[in-house]
Amino acid sequence: MLKKRLLDRLKTRLRPRRPAQHGPPPPEFIRVAYCTPRQVVLITARHNGAENVWPIDWHVPLSMEPKLYGIAVNRASYGAELIRASNAFVVNFVPATWEEAIFLCGRTSGRAVDKFAVTGLVREEAESVDSPRLANTLGFLECQVEQVVETGDHTLIIGRITHEAYRAGAPALHHLYGELATVAGTFR
Ligand SMILES: Cc1cc2nc3c(=O)[nH]c(=O)nc-3n(C[C@H](O)[C@H](O)[C@H](O)COP(=O)(O)O)c2cc1C
Repeated sequence: MLKKRLLDRLKTRLRPRRPAQHGPPPPEFIRVAYCTPRQVVLITARHNGAENVWPIDWHVPLSMEPKLYGIAVNRASYGAELIRASNAFVVNFVPATWEEAIFLCGRTSGRAVDKFAVTGLVREEAESVDSPRLANTLGFLECQVEQVVETGDHTLIIGRITHEAYRAGAPALHHLYGELATVAGTFR
């Protein structure tokens, strides 16, 4: 019952936002960076038994040999704290049907909410690092932290890929100004 009430409350807060309706337009460099929508992934991490899941769309492959992947996370976020402490994370490539879970995880903090319980996202154990990973994804990259670069209000966390799998060819989700879509063509 409590879970349902929390979910309902979050859902009303999580309606996709359009820049024209909420505050000033995004800075020019963000508009340029989002000329095309960015793919949304869910990051999972754990430290001392505390587990978290949250979406990001600032992520990038950085090297083939060694295999490196970068994620930019808000430096004050709970997720950043967990990764700094554990030195491990998983990048989970999620199917388009997970939009609601993505907004739930992206607009609450794991400091206050057990996002796995609220969303019903299914966890499995990562094989090569001490972290949960998500079941039923399109694929995943398990990463050991190689380098942490403080870039400003975000932290660039560079992970060495220790295990990966590609699971399916379904469309992934992309993000533009608070909206999600499976194809670029649906964005204004
Ligand atoms: C579609 C979407 C994309 C996001 N992209 C990023 C991102 O690239 N980096 C980031 O730090 N936060 C991003 N966020 C915000 C975080 O997911 C959000 O701050 C989240 O509440 C952090 O959770 P935590 O406090 O449990 O770590 C995004 C949110 C959404 C909904």
